Amino acid sequence: MNRRILWHAIGVGLICAILLAGALGEPKRQILFYVSGFGFLALLSLIFIISIPLLARAWKSPHAEMLLANRRQMGIYSFVFALIHVILVFNFFFAWDAGKILANPNSLFLIMGAAAFLMLALMAASSNDFSMKALGRNWKYLQYLIYSAILLILVHFIAVGKIFAQNTVIVAILLLVALAVLALRFILKQPK
Ligand code: HEM
Repeated sequence: MNRRILWHAIGVGLICAILLAGALGEPKRQILFYVSGFGFLALLSLIFIISIPLLARAWKSPHAEMLLANRRQMGIYSFVFALIHVILVFNFFFAWDAGKILANPNSLFLIMGAAAFLMLALMAASSNDFSMKALGRNWKYLQYLIYSAILLILVHFIAVGKIFAQNTVIVAILLLVALAVLALRFILKQPK
């Protein structure tokens, strides 16, 4: 299968899997499940993307090289998952009134989510050959925003999450993996 089509199939497949899981679950919690599901999927996919250079270092194979070469396309899907989360949150929780975010008792953690979302939007908008050429070295620096975005989202997830964040085992495993990957990326100073 063509690589491009493969990534679209995986991305769209994951979106359909969340929609299906929500439809099969409790109708009362369906919206919350969709909001949480897409936010969580975005976070997981970002952690996976930053772990790819480590995987490629530990496991030298054509598959790992293929993952390395396709991080841009995966990043676009992470942004799409985050975008769906944000659209659902704005529609169902805040009725498209940004003022309600500021008035919320968790406003600081919601703003952290918004800041991370802006970073992901910048990265997604510059994820094309034209921007890569135009930005030169700065393009690489722009991609480093992924680390700040992940840290902000981890805090946002733990502070406001109502489904996955309520499960101590999920939170512990996710934090352990995310922080280990972030630390290893910095310790090994991997340029990719
Ligand atoms: C304007 C930006 C954002 C706003 C206003 C926002 C708002 C919210 C709200 C109200 C919740 C609590 C409801 C729930 O648990 O489903 C939540 C949870 C969550 N958000 Fe966001 N969010 C934003 C951006 C993001 C981004 C960019 C990501 C990831 C890339 C993200 C990931 C998550 C995760 C993982 C949860 C917890 C899921 C759970 O355990 O239930 N959010 N967000």
